[in-house]
Amino acid sequence: MEKLDFDTISVREGSLKLKVPDPSKYNLDSKMPVFYNPVMVKNRDVSVLLLKSLNFRNRALDLLAASGVRGLRIANETSAEKVVLNDVNLQAVELMIENAHLNKVGNIEIIKRSARELLAEKEKYDYIDIDPFGTPIGFLDFISKLRLGGVIGVTATDTSALCGTYPKACLRKYNSLSLRNEFMYETGLRILTNKVRQAGLKMGRTLRPIYAHSSNHYMRVYLKDSKKSKLDDIGHIYYCPKCLDRFSSKQKLEKKCCGKRMEVAGKLWLGSLFDRALAKKMFSAISESGSYAINSTKELVKQIYLESEVKEPWFFDIHKIAKIYRVKIPKFDLILEALRERKFKAFRTHYSKTGIKTDADILDIVDIIENLKA
Ligand SMILES: C[S@@+](CC[C@H](N)C(=O)[O-])C[C@H]1O[C@@H](n2cnc3c(N)ncnc32)[C@H](O)[C@@H]1O
Ligand SMILES: [Zn+2]
Repeated sequence: MEKLDFDTISVREGSLKLKVPDPSKYNLDSKMPVFYNPVMVKNRDVSVLLLKSLNFRNRALDLLAASGVRGLRIANETSAEKVVLNDVNLQAVELMIENAHLNKVGNIEIIKRSARELLAEKEKYDYIDIDPFGTPIGFLDFISKLRLGGVIGVTATDTSALCGTYPKACLRKYNSLSLRNEFMYETGLRILTNKVRQAGLKMGRTLRPIYAHSSNHYMRVYLKDSKKSKLDDIGHIYYCPKCLDRFSSKQKLEKKCCGKRMEVAGKLWLGSLFDRALAKKMFSAISESGSYAINSTKELVKQIYLESEVKEPWFFDIHKIAKIYRVKIPKFDLILEALRERKFKAFRTHYSKTGIKTDADILDIVDIIENLKA
């Protein structure tokens, strides 16, 4: 085997022992000899778990594979027939080959192509993973490489556009208005979901969201090619920063609240981001002792299973409510309990430690908080 021309260390992730660039020698950025971000383990855990829960047995493409960690984990930890790992960077390809040997992973093919070249090839896949630096928009053409019924997993790290710090960038890239507020992570995920769906529709493919999460500095969505998908679950979210009221509408409206025009986000996906049965399976699978997932992935998957019962496309933030309504916040669990007593759904949310996912509206929540104080 050829010697790698950069310094490496050994790490463990999932079922694998891997060589990755030495983090004491290289900054964690796109200029690393080969990109490997240990924080993204949660992102990779979820993709492996999702495929396991779908009983995946077919062909997968790790389009932007870098060290090969995700594709090799899919090959090793699921029943995939074959995983193709691709990267345009020669050093990445050399490292992937080394990592495949180290772990004796057999059901793989490692290739070095630019994504454009690969797009021109005939081969189709049942799962395609798109995990780029920044926005995935330039890679969404790969939806055309999905076999019927296939799944696509997409990461976006341009959260400043999706979450309203750079609204113009969001409009330009995602053709959508983003909002910078307490539930911006959910709005961002819904804008991204809609963009992937729209890209599919342009190719005559209907994609249905089956799983999504917003973690650390990135967003991740999974959509499945599906005939059953409703086409009309897209629209806008209206929000009043003065009283925190919000509602969604499939039509674009001019609405006022507290004497001002309401802020608006969208177009975005208003339907469920989750296939509940899949979220449940993933939760069961991760609770089994055989799962390689780290603890924070376990928490995420549990939380998502619970909160996916709430259909409202936003959540409330208790600190924001306390600030706007000048109320002292009772214990979080007491608020959840009181909401449930009033027959509302109420859960914590994976988006934020101070968030409540509920079908109650702002006045119900404030009323409950005031009553709990009394
Ligand atoms: C964020 S890294 C992927 C990380 C990897 N999926 C993981 O889980 O560790 C993005 C990778 O895409 C590769 N890349 C960027 N543009 C590409 C292109 N047009 N075609 C093929 N590979 C590309 C880069 O070389 C880099 O290794
Ligand atoms: Zn208002």
